Amino acid sequence: MKRTRVRNILQAEAPFGRIMVKGWARTRRDSKGVSFIELNDGSCLANVQLVVDGASPAAQVLPEAAVGAAILAVGEMVPSPGKGQKFEIRVEELTVLGPAPEDYPLQKKRHSDEFLRTIAHLRPRTNKYGALLRIRSDLSFAIHRFFRERDFHYVQTPVLTGSDCEGAGELFRVTTLDGAAAGEAPRAGDFFGKPAYLTVSGQLEAELLCLGVGDVYTFGPTFRAENSNTPRHAAEFWMVEPEMAFADLEDNMNLAEALVRNLASFALEQCEEDLALFDRFVSPGLFESIRHTAETAFVRITHAEAVGVLAASGRDFQFPVDPEMDLQTEHERFLCEEHFKAPVVVRDYPASIKPFYMRLNEDGATVGAMDVLAPGVGEIVGGSAREERLDVLQARARACGLEEASYWWYLDTRRFGSAPHAGFGMGFERLIMMLTGVGNIRDVIPFPRTPNHLEF
Ligand code: 4AD
Ligand code: MG
Repeated sequence: MKRTRVRNILQAEAPFGRIMVKGWARTRRDSKGVSFIELNDGSCLANVQLVVDGASPAAQVLPEAAVGAAILAVGEMVPSPGKGQKFEIRVEELTVLGPAPEDYPLQKKRHSDEFLRTIAHLRPRTNKYGALLRIRSDLSFAIHRFFRERDFHYVQTPVLTGSDCEGAGELFRVTTLDGAAAGEAPRAGDFFGKPAYLTVSGQLEAELLCLGVGDVYTFGPTFRAENSNTPRHAAEFWMVEPEMAFADLEDNMNLAEALVRNLASFALEQCEEDLALFDRFVSPGLFESIRHTAETAFVRITHAEAVGVLAASGRDFQFPVDPEMDLQTEHERFLCEEHFKAPVVVRDYPASIKPFYMRLNEDGATVGAMDVLAPGVGEIVGGSAREERLDVLQARARACGLEEASYWWYLDTRRFGSAPHAGFGMGFERLIMMLTGVGNIRDVIPFPRTPNHLEF
């Protein structure tokens, strides 16, 4: 007999007859000679109710069928007289595959996020993390679907790299030598014979592919040794990075807005049951805010306009407002949560605070950069038009202190058949934070990596 998924049982029109289910006991209640076990198998948020008659042979293993135990049950699927579920299972055979003694840490009660982080290996068994993992899975699929519908090629960029795309010096060094110090000249015998790192972004490599096959996107892990212990930074996170050929900043903003809104709609349509948990327990009003994101055009302003709004706000920001500043989280959140009350796209940042690859605007002072700021999260997307003019790129790279020898391959693409192109990176965890209302990145990624935290 093949096992039936709980999701299929709960969605059924009519009973399937005699079926087998496997899952974990979430709760157990004994009343008047009958035991009720709420069984969850991860296929959906809801549990199926197992009804075990205390006088039946199946009842013999009940003492072991405690909260947390892995269970196999065979029985008749019948309409449920209880409320809250359409069907239940009248159990005939019960097997405890893996008992869970009394010290099982997830007894039925609500646990704090902080506590659950200390048992990250068990938190996938809670309703909240189960919901989160299904939402991550569904949204990954939706991202691939979005790009496929728009004729983008899915490409894979390397995790091991020799270059610092963002130039921010937040690289994890990769070496096979013991005791190699950061910034040290390459030592004889190191694997690549030159410094190697974990990638902070697949962008530079995606550009090379884009300039050969047109629109591409990557979706993979990226790494940053940022020492900022903030609720929205992880040392390992996933990024979606499209790169469009023959495209400018306008195209880029349009794509980013379409992506975020498309994913918000998808989440409303496909993840309703799981999102309802977050709307109820984590972030009341979540559905309304996702709907707003899906249905309303994003505000678009320049960096100078954003600075103007912040300066006129009369707010006492921790980071003082300055025309040459990068926006801090407090500024980003003020703009989209309090001032515009909508996602905001900020464009044309000062060249002085942005990486070398961003296209210099006509004014010679700003670059064609764009960030999408989302309520509850702040920056969710960062991108730009790319500098396709060789001489301008060389001047910018020099000003940023880059050595041409380490970027000769990038410069080559501007020497041969260079073309305007643009792209961006969307932090997958930031997207999930926006869609679930979860305030800490450690709670939207199954295995968070942050300073001094690497359990597995
Ligand atoms: O703005 P960032 O640094 O842009 C880039 O890396 C570009 N090379 C992307 C591109 O144009 N292809 O990062 C992009 C996004 C941010 O907007 C944010 O959502 C996310 O990646 N991000 C992080 N998410 C979690 N933890 C961190 N430490 C993050 N750093 C950036
Ligand atoms: Mg950024």
